[in-house]
Amino acid sequence: MTAGATGRRPTAVLISGRGSNLQALIEAASHADYPAEIVLVLSNEPDAAGLGRAEAVGIPTRVVPHRDYADRAAFEAALTACLQEAGADLVCLAGFMRILTEGFVAQWEGRLINIHPSLLPAFPGLDTHARALEAGVKLHGCSVHLVSSELDGGPIIGQAAVPVLPDDDEATLAARVLAAEHRLYPLCLKLLAEDGFEAQGRRLRLRNAATETAQLLNPDPDSGT
Ligand code: GRF
Repeated sequence: MTAGATGRRPTAVLISGRGSNLQALIEAASHADYPAEIVLVLSNEPDAAGLGRAEAVGIPTRVVPHRDYADRAAFEAALTACLQEAGADLVCLAGFMRILTEGFVAQWEGRLINIHPSLLPAFPGLDTHARALEAGVKLHGCSVHLVSSELDGGPIIGQAAVPVLPDDDEATLAARVLAAEHRLYPLCLKLLAEDGFEAQGRRLRLRNAATETAQLLNPDPDSGT
């Protein structure tokens, strides 16, 4: 475990767009007792709105446009160089829309996490809200997981469930899940940064058993949220 000058774990956030999850992480990390500090926000898209969120609070940003690199390996070498220069110890993917190779993932094993808008292993990949509606599930939600070489397939750190309501369309369901994402991601980064965990296959156990139930966020049946 590497701690930064402030004793908090230096964390990079990789984005491609809007950056609302980034915003939730920035807000959590603005508290001095939060165990991770955001030292870099990196985007593969020069126009990503999330870059402005970081700049607004003085967090260093870098743009590594994937189109400028001949292949995935060269792109990832540039990512690694930025992460190393920033002294990142943990990496959060927050709407980062590039697939990472096995080599990159192995380099960050146990320290690279992602948020996905479904209750994995249901609905890996894209269009999760439309697929949840089509499947008729009554609970949907989001998951934060360790990144493995399988798309959306690494050990699950935490999940938040939300109800699927009778009149939902893709937009209303996406908004309800997104609100849950903004609670779940800071919570899971905190658990990773301060407790650490052991993974057995896909099953992940926090080292500090006292916080294990903190991995679950459940719907409030009365509020419909
Ligand atoms: C979120 O729904 C996240 O789960 C998915 O991409 C979206 C990113 O949204 N991986 P934002 O950029 O954090 O607002």
